[in-house]
Amino acid sequence: DKANYRHFMAKEIHEQPEVVGHTLARYIDMASERVMLPVTLPFDFKDIQRVSITACGTANLAGYVAKYWFERLARIPVEIDIASEFRYREAPLRKGDLAIFISQSGETADTLAALRYAKGEGAHTLSVVNVPTSTIARESETVLQTLAGPEIGVASTKAFTCQLMVLASLAVAAGKTRGELSDEDETKLVHGLVEIPRLMAAALTIEPQIEKLARDISKSKDVLYLGRGTSYPLALEGALKLKEISYIHAEGYAAGELKHGPIALIDENMPVVVIAPHDRVFEKTVSNMQEVAARGGNIILMTDAKGAAEATIESLVTIVLPDMAATFTPMVYAVPVQLLAYHTAVVMGTDVDQPRNLAKSVTVE
Ligand code: M6R
Repeated sequence: DKANYRHFMAKEIHEQPEVVGHTLARYIDMASERVMLPVTLPFDFKDIQRVSITACGTANLAGYVAKYWFERLARIPVEIDIASEFRYREAPLRKGDLAIFISQSGETADTLAALRYAKGEGAHTLSVVNVPTSTIARESETVLQTLAGPEIGVASTKAFTCQLMVLASLAVAAGKTRGELSDEDETKLVHGLVEIPRLMAAALTIEPQIEKLARDISKSKDVLYLGRGTSYPLALEGALKLKEISYIHAEGYAAGELKHGPIALIDENMPVVVIAPHDRVFEKTVSNMQEVAARGGNIILMTDAKGAAEATIESLVTIVLPDMAATFTPMVYAVPVQLLAYHTAVVMGTDVDQPRNLAKSVTVE
């Protein structure tokens, strides 16, 4: 049931404050302001020397964001991998390593094969899945469920942000167990997480501005997405979302890689979407943006009030998002990224919920 929405994707984008809130309530104890996982982990994060995260598509990009969180908050080295590469590369795992798998459907063939491989290597297996009865859930040692509810649109939206919520909670729990985070740090981070649903709702109110922008984007043949830190995997997600439903070619790049190649593409015909909350790498991203502007590129900057005030560049459209704790921005910035892809696809007249050549669940490799 699409309720009053034109597409499932629109409904699912708008459901995010609610379902991310449900997911949060499953992983955070509001009274004590502590992360409280709904299951007992069969390992101690203190003993984990390495984590590998494996998934496909958008789930892989949620894992890529989580890599930054685990490394920053828990100081655990994380390898992020695409399931089809991981399984055939036969990546060495050590007994007792933690292997995390992320899948909305829990049925993705390559992710399942990667899970079976990791099990065979003696790793602890933990999966973040939306369908608790799925094969990946059944075969994993530990299951952390996302409470996104059924996701019908082929383009993953609410499953992605719920995956991020689970992974953020897990990273905080890991940091706490490993002594990298104090009680005070944890409280602060939990406060940041508790705010997310409200901030996502605020981000949804900028939809009319994005709808207008989408009309310009729909005239382009190529779009470049840039970001640094956790905004880098979100840039990849923005590009994936746009190409999958609007069929416009898009690429995501780490902003710092610009001058190692993609800057050659910049002209007035290729919009550049820059995802840059005012965080510790903001200034670096602004200098990349200046490089784009100097070459006649048209920039769409997604930032907050502080970022908008500091980034004084011509040919700039600014999308201003609410101020928030820097660590968890991807969950909120995902909203304009998804809306931009959605409205562009609507302008293009594509089959938004069932884009050509794609299946919701990829059960063959
Ligand atoms: O069900 P899964 O999360 O395992 O699916 C993984 C990918 O196939 C999926 O995220 C795909 O990339 C989406 N269509 C992206 O919007």
